[in-house]
Amino acid sequence: MELNKIYEGNCIKRLTELDSNSVDLIYFDPPFFTQKKHSLVTRDESKKYEFSDSWESLDDYLGLIESCLIECKRVLKSSGSVFLHCDKVASHYIRVTLDKVFGMKNFRSEIIWSYKRWSNSKKGLLNSHQNIYFYSKSKDFKFNQYYTDYAPTTNIDQILQDRKRTNNGKSVYKTDENGKIVLGKEKKGVPLSDTWEIPYLNPKAKERVGYPTQKPVLLLKEIIKIVTDKGDLVVDPFCGSGTTCVAAKSMERNFIGIDASKDAVELAKRRLEEMIITNSTLLKKGAKSYLEKTDYELAILKSIDALPVQRNSGIDGFLKNHFKEKPVPIKIQGKNETLDDAIEKLEKSCQGKEYNLKIVIQTKKETKSNRLFELISDVEIIKSDKLKIEELKTRGTVPNKV
Ligand SMILES: C[S@@+](CC[C@H](N)C(=O)[O-])C[C@H]1O[C@@H](n2cnc3c(N)ncnc32)[C@H](O)[C@@H]1O
Repeated sequence: MELNKIYEGNCIKRLTELDSNSVDLIYFDPPFFTQKKHSLVTRDESKKYEFSDSWESLDDYLGLIESCLIECKRVLKSSGSVFLHCDKVASHYIRVTLDKVFGMKNFRSEIIWSYKRWSNSKKGLLNSHQNIYFYSKSKDFKFNQYYTDYAPTTNIDQILQDRKRTNNGKSVYKTDENGKIVLGKEKKGVPLSDTWEIPYLNPKAKERVGYPTQKPVLLLKEIIKIVTDKGDLVVDPFCGSGTTCVAAKSMERNFIGIDASKDAVELAKRRLEEMIITNSTLLKKGAKSYLEKTDYELAILKSIDALPVQRNSGIDGFLKNHFKEKPVPIKIQGKNETLDDAIEKLEKSCQGKEYNLKIVIQTKKETKSNRLFELISDVEIIKSDKLKIEELKTRGTVPNKV
């Protein structure tokens, strides 16, 4: 089999064409046993991609997984690893199958890929993670250690001091013969954990190609970087839109992708020619970079039982409760905004949407609008508590009546 190509066909058959002990990493993302057909239309609606995930029985499904894993084990180098991606539907059965083929002793980690999702109204806990099982072919597996930052609550001064156990098992700082604290080994940070928060591709992401269950390249890059080096071979027997191959190519690894769907193979080939990888601002800057409301604004929103809206200059929040079955947008008058500016911004953000109530919270005293034309708007104005107090004070010092 030639390297850096995508092949069409049943992966069990295709994998037999690969030499034994030749592969460094297999990313294995099969259908998840959802018992339905997955289909998605591209953004420009020019093409519909689909694959079937309907099975006669669980045994039928696990039969495919096991046969494929046996071939995967054969083609992996003794230093190689497999990462099997699944979800809560069949993860417990798949783990048993992996133990059967690779051996319990070769289980390395269960990675929890967690992401934020829009809530749906289903009863029960919102599912917001998938599982990736990491098994190696042997105990001598390749692994590149990565470190992450300490939590802000970690006292680094403390963890740089060596510890020992007392006779009754208590952990205490180690001291030398002069009573001085013994300083420990160099610390590089916290080893990368098995819980990965990587955003799901949003519907507008440039990377999205319209393939159902498409995974983010960033997720694949994380996997590839920890168990392979440049020039290593990465194989994806269920490559779909070719995400793994795009990630491998961008990291100068060799790759082979296999998929039973002709459409998927064509799409993956096209994707490799013009690779688009979405950079995640969330990962780069952290979730806090999205939080731009001041404490004052948050306090106002909390006091009226509203949820804050970030990164929208026209709407600062929505009341938790609808009014006449429609959401209620809130705008807080900004420091440098006139009341009219605030109303205009709110109206602009509401364009094309029908609300039964829109509210501006006035935060500054204002006399008269200096507009040429009067602003026509059905926005309701409510004065903030701070403004009301300021007005009371003014009234107290400057008598209204002569
Ligand atoms: C979960 S999707 C993979 C999605 C992919 N990781 C991506 O990011 O686009 C599973 C893929 O397995 C393929 N498939 C199902 N059975 C197969 C088989 N026996 N051999 C090869 N591919 C198969 C389907 O066509 C589908 O594209």
